[in-house]
Amino acid sequence: MIERNEVSDVPEITVDIEKVAYGALGIARHEGQTIFVPGAIPGDRVVISIESDKGRYAHAKLISYAVKSPLTQKPSCAYESCGGCQWQHASYREQLSWKGSFVADAFERIGKIPLPIGYKVLPSPTELNYRNRVLLRGTVHKDGSVGVGFFKKATKEQVHIDRCMIARPILNRVIEQISRLNISVKPQKFRMELQEFEALSEQTAQVSVVVHPVLKHDLSLEKLVEKLGAFHEVIWSGLSTELKNPPFIPLETYQGLSYFSAPGQFFQVNLAHNRQLREFVQQEVTKDEQANKILDLFCGSGNLSLGLAAAGKTVFGVEANPIAIKAANYAVTYNRIENCTYKTGDALKYLSKSCKKQEQFDVVLVDPPRAGMKEGMSFLRAMTPKKIIYVSCDPNTLARDLRELKDDYHLESVTSFDFFPHTYHVETAAVLQLKS
Ligand SMILES: C[S@@+](CC[C@H](N)C(=O)[O-])C[C@H]1O[C@@H](n2cnc3c(N)ncnc32)[C@H](O)[C@@H]1O
Repeated sequence: MIERNEVSDVPEITVDIEKVAYGALGIARHEGQTIFVPGAIPGDRVVISIESDKGRYAHAKLISYAVKSPLTQKPSCAYESCGGCQWQHASYREQLSWKGSFVADAFERIGKIPLPIGYKVLPSPTELNYRNRVLLRGTVHKDGSVGVGFFKKATKEQVHIDRCMIARPILNRVIEQISRLNISVKPQKFRMELQEFEALSEQTAQVSVVVHPVLKHDLSLEKLVEKLGAFHEVIWSGLSTELKNPPFIPLETYQGLSYFSAPGQFFQVNLAHNRQLREFVQQEVTKDEQANKILDLFCGSGNLSLGLAAAGKTVFGVEANPIAIKAANYAVTYNRIENCTYKTGDALKYLSKSCKKQEQFDVVLVDPPRAGMKEGMSFLRAMTPKKIIYVSCDPNTLARDLRELKDDYHLESVTSFDFFPHTYHVETAAVLQLKS
């Protein structure tokens, strides 16, 4: 059905959403064209206007709902316009099934490898209050009040909040206090990163706050940093320029091991689910008693391999970020682990050199950023480790990279971990065994 919008004269169409694609894009078909509608879910009948028409497909804007999907649930979040999550309004069970379909689709379409039988998406231990790190957008207003929040859906406009339903409770206690602040500094925008340390414990948890001014060397927000530092929950607060020599703080202690990080550093945000991923990796590696020499590429602060070294394996880790490597080595010393070396370097350069030197590893663990490691796959293949465990936060680049291993490796299992409920993101671990 096509109608003219009385105000803007942009044609409006009513369509039925049949499926959902990666990116939380509802898919509708209209007169032979595939139309992507952000945020819409299967079962929705929506009124849309086309924003960009590419011929066979088009991107549209959701104007209103004619009928809401039976899969709709009442969001636990009060900020309807917030763009932080895409699926607060969708049933969690369905979210898991959609994420599974993204992975299956990527393997079939891009990887040209069918998903092994037994593929599953493991739900997050908690649907809400799971994030131990949040990046907020903030404003100091003319009257000195401070607002923090996220961007509005599909805009660069800020929505200010005083709680985020997916953030850990201690981060919300800090956010609530920020929204009551009043400071005498020039009005401006900024970014702010909150991180929970000694996490998942109500008794010991503490927060670090990093304030990123728009202009890197602008010191005018020092007053804000000072006020934040006085909060009972805050263990460290500073401007982003102070991150060159950050303090190393225990992020968590799990199964007798302390994991370290520093303010402003990457660490998995869903710690409870991350523990399940670590256990999964540990089980996969220790299945083969002969597997002793482990290479951990893109090792961060040693999240996935410290436990392997503590279990007696010889671990070598490579990571580009020197601060993450400092945190990893801090943990090695603190936990008195001996058979573990973490080095700063480019993972792909390391792979290529290691191949030339014909170095051998029993298991290679890779956990690259979203872009994957296309350029490194031929070296990884040539290295012929018995087992490869590829952990990825993007099913499309994962499937693309695994395609390179198809002839030499058997895809033993694929498991997804729902690290990010209420968003379309999904973490996936693929286990590959060298063909004999
Ligand atoms: C998804 S994180 C995984 C970190 C770690 N395995 C974990 O579980 O916390 C990807 C890591 O790759 C690092 N990285 C990005 N590009 C890199 C490169 N070319 N060489 C080495 N490390 C890189 C990032 O700094 C980041 O720590």
